[in-house]
Amino acid sequence: MIELRELTKRYGGRVAVDALSVQVRPGVVTGFLGPNGSGKSTTMRMILGLDAPDHGEALIDGVRYAQLTRPLRTVGALLDAGAFHPGRSGRAHLAALAASNDIPAARVGEVLRVVGLSGAGDRRAGTYSLGMRQRLGVAVALLGDPGVLLLDEPVNGLDPEGIRWIRDLLRGLAAEGRTVFVSSHLIAEMALTAERLVVIGQGRLLAETTVAGLAAGHDSLEDAFFRLTSQATDYRGTGVS
Ligand SMILES: Nc1ncnc2c1ncn2[C@@H]1O[C@H](COP(=O)(O)OP(=O)(O)OP(=O)(O)O)[C@@H](O)[C@H]1O
Ligand SMILES: [Mg+2]
Repeated sequence: MIELRELTKRYGGRVAVDALSVQVRPGVVTGFLGPNGSGKSTTMRMILGLDAPDHGEALIDGVRYAQLTRPLRTVGALLDAGAFHPGRSGRAHLAALAASNDIPAARVGEVLRVVGLSGAGDRRAGTYSLGMRQRLGVAVALLGDPGVLLLDEPVNGLDPEGIRWIRDLLRGLAAEGRTVFVSSHLIAEMALTAERLVVIGQGRLLAETTVAGLAAGHDSLEDAFFRLTSQATDYRGTGVS
């Protein structure tokens, strides 16, 4: 369970995340949607203690990230898929993380299999394609077998087979009773993956709903999403009324 309480972040004079209060529950995939620059990544960084809120707090299973005694075993995250030492193999990267987090070494081979990198595990991560780096990032997130998963735009860079794979993976993880919070700016993709949706615009909560609930009364999901978020998006200067 992830709980955001009036979570707020300002950069200079600009509010990136604005008093965001949300509960993300276990057992379903929750999509975190919003246009570019709406505060999704900033929110996720605050949940992981990588950015300090100016007000409010983010709790994982009732405590702040910094208070977790075994962070990698509690929450797995995919934020920046490029964050690897390029000279190290995927397997070595995972093995180092496992060793420093008291995770059994046998888990490395397991997660490489789950993400489809068994064959490429011994190649230097710097030679991986974008989609392969994304898969290695998912392997890192799964390494500690955590009950909470946080993924920022995991579909980026994946081919159609990869997109279907991650969709099935996330749904499977949620069905096991985990909390799965996954961001996207693509409503169509989220509609296929998530059951619940948290929609933000300019850092503010616009809707906390289901896919069906968002679509109700609109011609299409895209239409519903656009109408909801366009009011809160001024940098494009669309002037939609
Ligand atoms: N380190 C930073 N310094 C200054 N401003 C920042 C910083 N990080 C984010 N911002 C600003 O905060 C706002 C939210 O950015 P954020 O990256 O959280 O959006 P996002 O919803 O993840 O967007 P995208 O869909 O493009 O990934 C933007 O206006 C952005 O310019
Ligand atoms: Mg982002």
